[in-house]
Amino acid sequence: MTLFSFFFLLFLLCLHALAVSPAPAGRGSDQLALLSFKSTIAPPRGLLASWNTSTHHCSWPGVACGRRHPDRVVSLRMASFNLSGRISPFLGNLSFLRELHLGDNHLAGQIPPELGHLARLRLLSLRVNSLQGSIPVHGSWRMHQPHHA
Ligand SMILES: *[C@@H]1O[C@H](CO)[C@@H](O)[C@H](O)[C@H]1NC(C)=O
Ligand SMILES: *[C@@H]1O[C@H](CO)[C@@H](O)[C@H](O)[C@H]1NC(C)=O
Ligand SMILES: *[C@@H]1O[C@H](CO)[C@@H](O)[C@H](O)[C@H]1NC(C)=O
Repeated sequence: MTLFSFFFLLFLLCLHALAVSPAPAGRGSDQLALLSFKSTIAPPRGLLASWNTSTHHCSWPGVACGRRHPDRVVSLRMASFNLSGRISPFLGNLSFLRELHLGDNHLAGQIPPELGHLARLRLLSLRVNSLQGSIPVHGSWRMHQPHHA
């Protein structure tokens, strides 16, 4: 092996290591997004009161995480949780989210356009709230939104 090919191989190995290293802040950013969501709910009581860092965020009421990515939130089922306040734009950072159920609450304000970043989202329920604005549509879930004109 020439010196050049040795360094070329080393270079390829480094590229590979970079490519397969896990995305940083996976757990951190999902937990941060959930805590931000809690902070815009006014005031958090009942089930949301147990959303605190004394337990892993995947065990918080309404939160379910993935099997293959155990720190990543895949569904938020919080219909009829008696939530009031606003929806935090940080929810748009839950990039593994597939289901978001926030129906039958008292949420108000704008639907954050950041929800449109949720490329994996398949189910979104915001029914019976006092929200304004339109449901942001991501290419892959347009067809799953019956209310989208
Ligand atoms: C944190 O959550 C636990 C339940 O998971 C609850 O028992 C505890 O009171 C909560 N702590 C605070 C400060 O709300
Ligand atoms: C729902 O929340 C409101 C205030 O946000 C509170 O007054 C009421 O007691 C709550 N109801 C239940 C069933 O927790
Ligand atoms: C998450 O989203 C918010 C608002 O959309 C943004 O300010 C923040 O930098 C994002 N990233 C992380 C890692 O929380």
